[in-house]
Amino acid sequence: MPERTDCLIHLRAEGVSVIIDCTAGRLPAIAYWGGDLGALSAADVTAVVASGATPGPIADQGVPTGPALLPEHWTTWTGRPGLSGSRAGTAWSPKFTSSSVAVTGDVADDGVITDGVIIGGRAVVEVRAADPVAELELSITIELTAGGLLRSRAEVINTGAESYQLNDLVLAYPVPERARELLDFAGRWAKERTPQRRELIVGTHLREGRRGRTGADAATVLHAGVPGFGFADGELWAVHTAWSGNHTHYAERLATGEQVLGGGELLLPGEVRLASGESYTSPWLYGSHGVGLDQVARRFHRYLRSRDRHPAADRPVTLNVWEAVYFDHDADRLIDLAERAARLGVERYVLDDGWFGSRRDDKSGLGDWTVSPDVWPDGLHPLINRVRELGMEFGLWFEPEMINLDSDVARAHPEWVMATGDRLPVEHRQQQVINLGIPECYAYLRDAISAILDEYPIGYLKWDHNRDLIDSGTSPEGRPGVHAQTDAVYRLIDELKAAHPGLEIESCSSGGARVDLGILERTDRVWVSDCIDPLERQQMNRWTTQLVPPELMGSHIASGRSHTTGRRHDLSFRAGTAVFGHLGIEWDLAEATEAELTELGGWIEFYKAERELLLRGDLVRVDFADESVYAHGVVAPDRRRAIFAVAAVGRSEVSAIGRIPLRGLDPELRYRIEPVLIDPAAAGRGRDPWFADDLPAIPGTALIGAGLRISDLRPEHVALIRLTAV
Ligand code: GLA
Repeated sequence: MPERTDCLIHLRAEGVSVIIDCTAGRLPAIAYWGGDLGALSAADVTAVVASGATPGPIADQGVPTGPALLPEHWTTWTGRPGLSGSRAGTAWSPKFTSSSVAVTGDVADDGVITDGVIIGGRAVVEVRAADPVAELELSITIELTAGGLLRSRAEVINTGAESYQLNDLVLAYPVPERARELLDFAGRWAKERTPQRRELIVGTHLREGRRGRTGADAATVLHAGVPGFGFADGELWAVHTAWSGNHTHYAERLATGEQVLGGGELLLPGEVRLASGESYTSPWLYGSHGVGLDQVARRFHRYLRSRDRHPAADRPVTLNVWEAVYFDHDADRLIDLAERAARLGVERYVLDDGWFGSRRDDKSGLGDWTVSPDVWPDGLHPLINRVRELGMEFGLWFEPEMINLDSDVARAHPEWVMATGDRLPVEHRQQQVINLGIPECYAYLRDAISAILDEYPIGYLKWDHNRDLIDSGTSPEGRPGVHAQTDAVYRLIDELKAAHPGLEIESCSSGGARVDLGILERTDRVWVSDCIDPLERQQMNRWTTQLVPPELMGSHIASGRSHTTGRRHDLSFRAGTAVFGHLGIEWDLAEATEAELTELGGWIEFYKAERELLLRGDLVRVDFADESVYAHGVVAPDRRRAIFAVAAVGRSEVSAIGRIPLRGLDPELRYRIEPVLIDPAAAGRGRDPWFADDLPAIPGTALIGAGLRISDLRPEHVALIRLTAV
């Protein structure tokens, strides 16, 4: 691939066009990002860029107008600069000049510049640049994936003799003026990913994550769109920072009317100081464009699904013992639970917290990763052997980054506890953070976890992380350690996975506080929330799918009375909510009635029969003005089959809810419609069926345009509808 400078690049994939301006040695700038502009000629690409430039005295001095992907202060950009830092007060406003541009992937003419333009599809652009005065080099990577997802990252290298203090490195994508409404997420423990909207006005909408983990309140995906956008409509641009430590997302509108969406890692004071020759690489900043929130989400889903290591659709039905037994580990009871689970068709059995060290409650033992002889005198063998005899895979809970001060490891290595300022951080859940940035500590954890994985046939880890990183420094000086900790946990997971091929890992963090594409690059599902109440999960799952496809969302059926909210729900609502994710059970089955077990078995059978569709279909969320109703569905890629769910999450002020448009179907096909009734008596149907039993096949156009009316759906119940092309 020839290396060039001074070019424009037009990339197109799956309905998206990106034009990157690398002319005149400037840092790459996204001159256009949006809907497909078609097969433009080189002259047209040049004209599109020229039509967006601001002529005038600044441009006359050869200064590029519009921010670079890494915006630079010297260009008169008065928004947040891409790079902030200094060499003891100098080199704080670098001016980079690019020295090479290389484009690889689906590029026309093997990437040769024709009339100053490179044309391509899915491709990776690598730009190298330097500022010899500031003694810094940059390497910027921009990629447009086959599914039209944009992602970028930058590496800064200190080429000077003195150290360079890096304060901030963010990247920013410009969005057009019409994108004036923002949507991102808030949340807290047991109520993750609650949507919030506001207007984008002059100034900055800044979401900083300073928890040292992604956070239950993380912005997750920051959208800017034309006001009023919904799942189906309204043009949108969105960003996601793929990082599990401190991080930022922001939307900025300047007095000039220019607007960007940006993000990066949030560095603590003094956290990254680059010695001569050292470099720092930012996390990926993802960008998704689409019309409607579903299309934005689908680009993330398609990207994740395109990975070689992405799990297959036959996600095993899981039983996690946490809400069944908590810390009460009794071998007979846990074996009995395994037998009950196997009878129902469960395929994976996960032993949660409480199996190691002195961990009989949450006060002690965290960090001592050896099987507790008090509760497991013969090790985990009797349980694991029985689980495997029953035909199930075994999974085990760990919380590698955490430590109870009342533990053997803390007593032996108090210096491994993260702290700063000659004091311990405020305790949370009786625990502190163990410092993976210390090589000996990292090795201890790796070896302890490996020893368990080597001794037992374990196919799955639930990897938990139950507190924020507050005051997280490295003793004794207390230098900030969140960046190193985040890097180290990624390395540890990579190392364990490389040594144990096929090992699956779930990312859990007090429920759903570590859900991001940094962790998902190396794990196989996320635990959405500790709240398994289906009414809450209707909302949390609905919004978690804005980033995460259903097959990567842990979605369990709990006992009739929710342990977090105290609400009671019929099994049909609990199960009919859970089957749209990676299904599991978290319920003491010894407490379930025969009728419940029969119905539960039916749901598991349904899930197994339909998981290819449920976990590989295109997700559709329906815009519906009546907020007492949530409707969503999955449509097979060939659109011949679909399953929709209509959930009554409240009670409407009108007696009959309107027709629900079943988007995503094929307008050319006709569909047979049937209710999914696992246990007709328990299915939450009121006096009447949801729709007539003898409906004729209905044209797709009508189902999309006119919709289907669901009658008499009782509150906190869900109707599942199967559509099959005839
Ligand atoms: C966290 C997790 C739970 C469970 C407990 C165990 O809260 O989110 O699912 O594993 O820890 O202590």
